[in-house]
Amino acid sequence: SKLAIGIDIGGTNSKFGIADRKGNIIAQSRIKTQQYSDYFSFIATLKKEIEQLHPIDDVIGIGVGAPNANYYKGTIVNPPNLPWKGVSRFAEEVEKVFGLKCVLTNDANAAALGEMVYGKAKNMKDFVVLTVGTGLGSGIVINGDVVYGKHGFAGELGHTLVSANGRHCACGKRGCLETYVSATGIRRTVYKLLADYTDPSMLRSISFDDLSTRTITEAAAKGDKIAIEAFKYTGRVLGMKLSDFVVHTDPEAIFLLGGLSKAGDHIFTPAQENMEKYLMPLFLDKKIQLQPSGLKDDDAPILGASSLVWKYLAGSAGE
Ligand code: BGC
Ligand code: NA
Ligand code: ZN
Repeated sequence: SKLAIGIDIGGTNSKFGIADRKGNIIAQSRIKTQQYSDYFSFIATLKKEIEQLHPIDDVIGIGVGAPNANYYKGTIVNPPNLPWKGVSRFAEEVEKVFGLKCVLTNDANAAALGEMVYGKAKNMKDFVVLTVGTGLGSGIVINGDVVYGKHGFAGELGHTLVSANGRHCACGKRGCLETYVSATGIRRTVYKLLADYTDPSMLRSISFDDLSTRTITEAAAKGDKIAIEAFKYTGRVLGMKLSDFVVHTDPEAIFLLGGLSKAGDHIFTPAQENMEKYLMPLFLDKKIQLQPSGLKDDDAPILGASSLVWKYLAGSAGE
């Protein structure tokens, strides 16, 4: 039977899998994005790794989700958290190296497609997905379609404003949402809290490199005050921005994916509370819920990317 490759490019890890049309992932693995200083060597490694994972004879195409992806052109444009600056002709290079057709979209759009085709949004026509990893992205689905906009960049929520003279962002601006709500954002918040408060915390002894979302999540689970406060702050900032996002998009639900979502109530509760606190009253009785992904192990972006193959490349061959 026919198969598709789905690739999810992240600032830290890039994950890839081979899936069938039903959304079963037959094999998957990951590589460290920052080890590839150009996208040519990255794609060459991907090919080797994927072929080791599973024969690609039955693969009919490749779907890719990437930060700062231009869906119309198949390019990745100045991604803040990837090592490749400028414009990468990514889809074209994938097609050359693999000899297969490639469709590229934003990583959060891919996640939204994953939820729509295989996850919790199967019966929803209007919803949004937030992916929070090294950066923060959003995928907006309105009336059953992902919103792309004129230039292919709609939904770049991570680079909307929280605070005019706020934290410096990798995109070049200041005060962007992802400088607060992301793996790097919460780490910055932890450092600030450790400096501002004298409370004992297991995070004090952890080196900068080892201070990951996971260590902060584990500390919060053990009752560490600084860690809990960091999630509360992060959740509140997120909730405040979501109150705007809801007004712009009027979704049935909001899905939160990625490392930060693993902290459960520590982040979901303050986010939901602040979203409702600042929400236009008209929306309040709609009970719009911030919720985790319906798919295990953050597979939504890989599956959503592979779904693009079935949608655009399979034709009758994929049936
Ligand atoms: C990028 C987005 C991406 C998000 C999550 C942001 O920094 O600008 O395009 O969706 O990170 O990876
Ligand atoms: Na998007
Ligand atoms: Zn930014």
